[in-house]
Amino acid sequence: MAEKDQTKLKAQIAELKAEKNAVIFAHYYTRPEIQEIADFIGDSLALAQEATRVDADILVMCGVHFMGETMKILCPDKKVLIPDMSAGCSLADSCKAEDFNQFIEEQTALHKSKPIVVSYVNTTAEVKALTDVVVTSSNAQKIVEQLPKDKPIIFGPDHNLGSHINSVTGREMILWNGACHVHSRFSLEALLRLKAENPGVEVLAHPECKAPILAQSDVIGSTKALLQHTIKSPAKRFIIATESGILFEMQRACPDKQFIPVPPEVTEGVGCSCNECEYMRMNTLEKVYACLRDGQPQMQVNKETAAKAVSSIKRMLEMS
Ligand code: 13P
Ligand code: SF4
Repeated sequence: MAEKDQTKLKAQIAELKAEKNAVIFAHYYTRPEIQEIADFIGDSLALAQEATRVDADILVMCGVHFMGETMKILCPDKKVLIPDMSAGCSLADSCKAEDFNQFIEEQTALHKSKPIVVSYVNTTAEVKALTDVVVTSSNAQKIVEQLPKDKPIIFGPDHNLGSHINSVTGREMILWNGACHVHSRFSLEALLRLKAENPGVEVLAHPECKAPILAQSDVIGSTKALLQHTIKSPAKRFIIATESGILFEMQRACPDKQFIPVPPEVTEGVGCSCNECEYMRMNTLEKVYACLRDGQPQMQVNKETAAKAVSSIKRMLEMS
């Protein structure tokens, strides 16, 4: 879209937002122009926390479906709009509630007592309803460390994050075998080449990346933790292994620093050969404008599911 049209659309969005008393939230992986119009940009934890604090009639969640669902569960009386209802998440899709329930039952039979069920926030409301405590990449370690040591724990759905938390906490959580298609595709070969070409440059990675990538990283953290590290570190250059949307906020916060993205493995016929989450990119200015104008698509969560899911999300907020 031409810059002139973008500026016009941004002004129209600002007008509608004021008229309807709406607040726009955006995840760090969204397009730069979406981050520019957002009132609040954050990682999954910060977005959920902030949603419970704002005083607005309408919350527009520019992210993916599970983020809108979490927001609606936490703020049932507010209208939660998501610009594109079909913006899903491969990680959430890798864990169907029915299969997860069966896994919990099998592990309960095996251990002769029901394990504590910990789920990453990248899950459907139905999976959260089967969960004792939800975690995000910001608080997973802190929450798992607070759980009783003598009880088995199931962790789902991200296997890479679960293995990482097991290694830093010394726990042996039983892991569901799910993954994010963006984070599990970073190329180790490319990372090693970038490290050789840029000696001494720190590598920052999201814990959804595979273990060999994490083993080559200096800092492992949520999108927000990685951003904060780039701000406070005296270093001027960083190699980044996470979705490339975060580079916009890193560059905005640190205009004098350089960020080098790790490319993915190129697999014939599998998505794009870039490190972008196509679901996050489904949020466009046109769709934000249309959803504010029309008051839809509106997120709805089945009341019974929401009632069960809310306790596991609130437990997370208390334990964070
Ligand atoms: P954060 O919790 O770090 O924002 O991650 C969310 C996500 O979808 C990562 O792929
Ligand atoms: Fe889901 Fe991966 Fe996209 Fe995050 S980057 S929203 S985990 S598909």
